Amino acid sequence: MMADTQINLRKFVAPEFIFGIDARCLAGRYAQNFGASKVLIVSDPGVIAAGWTKEMTEGLESAKIPFHVFSAVTPNPKAEEVMRGAEEYEKEGCDAIVAVGGGSPMDCAKGIGIVSTNKKHILEFEGVDQVSEPGPPLICVPTTAGSSADVSQFAIITDMQRRVKITIISKTLVPDVSLVDPLTLTTVSRDLAAYTGMDALTHALEAFVSNAASPITDLFALEGIRLMASSLVPSLEHPEDRELRTRTMLASLYAGLAFSNASLGLVHAMAHSLGGYSDIAHGQSNAILVSHVVGFNFEMAEEKYQAIGELLGVEEMSGLRSEEKKEALLAALGRVKKAINLDVNLRALGVKQEEIPRLAENAMSDPCIATNPRRPTKDEIERLYEQALL
Ligand SMILES: [Fe+2]
Repeated sequence: MMADTQINLRKFVAPEFIFGIDARCLAGRYAQNFGASKVLIVSDPGVIAAGWTKEMTEGLESAKIPFHVFSAVTPNPKAEEVMRGAEEYEKEGCDAIVAVGGGSPMDCAKGIGIVSTNKKHILEFEGVDQVSEPGPPLICVPTTAGSSADVSQFAIITDMQRRVKITIISKTLVPDVSLVDPLTLTTVSRDLAAYTGMDALTHALEAFVSNAASPITDLFALEGIRLMASSLVPSLEHPEDRELRTRTMLASLYAGLAFSNASLGLVHAMAHSLGGYSDIAHGQSNAILVSHVVGFNFEMAEEKYQAIGELLGVEEMSGLRSEEKKEALLAALGRVKKAINLDVNLRALGVKQEEIPRLAENAMSDPCIATNPRRPTKDEIERLYEQALL
């Protein structure tokens, strides 16, 4: 059923954000507005090489605010990296954070913030609403159109000892301001743009069919799907096109506002499990898993999946029978994946049959599973991983 206008009580949380070309240039001014006396910049080597971190340091210099750069952050950011960042934050006497980069530096920055104010280990915040003190002022400058960590109340951190990703969900993780600048996308590689674009599309799709969706989140989810469906493939073919980059950045922003408030589903529960276990790129996991999960969920949210199919270009969907609708939607998803070279399988990424029970067990305990429209058993998740192997 499409959500009706008579809704249950719903909260919608979003940060202040500025969207548009050159939004990134405002980081220094915002740090000043927040009264920062020393800023920790959290970034990663790729973003530094692209020149975006230097722009942040120059902005802080002109605002006469000292800073320290922490860039020991890897994809699928690790608990140890958060703890090291928090140590440097303390040692350097920082009182505000600027995160510049994709989901990894932003999630790491969120972690550093709550560790430094709560004086706890990052792994102690696992789950929903486990953070009592908000972190220091956090300014996010995203450089990918995908994770939406810059607007979400989520942070995903890898526990290397248990080989799992923990999900931290808390309103305190919503940044104080997000400076969303489509120009930063012009240095993203084709592969990373494809992965992150598929991540954003999955965010919008899972938020739309989530059990916690509302007309408010649907608005952002549908527009996120529409924008990403129409701009992702052409943006990869024309990487310099600012209009297309703006559309993918806007799609990611909308998808982020939707999922931060409606949460996600089984694709993310299974992708988090894979990312914690084998460090596979998050967008790649989503791209593989999304078709299998849509096939599994379809009957529980048929009308909504029909709307998604139409946005992905399936014509005359309403005249089809249920099974035909499902096939048409899966074919449309397959076309998107093929166009961006993401029609791979888990075996090709090194996942083995014998790892599946452990992966399924970890997926079962991920908080994202709670809002999936169909409650899966562990056996059913194992079958889905098996389908995704081939
Ligand atoms: Fe994601």
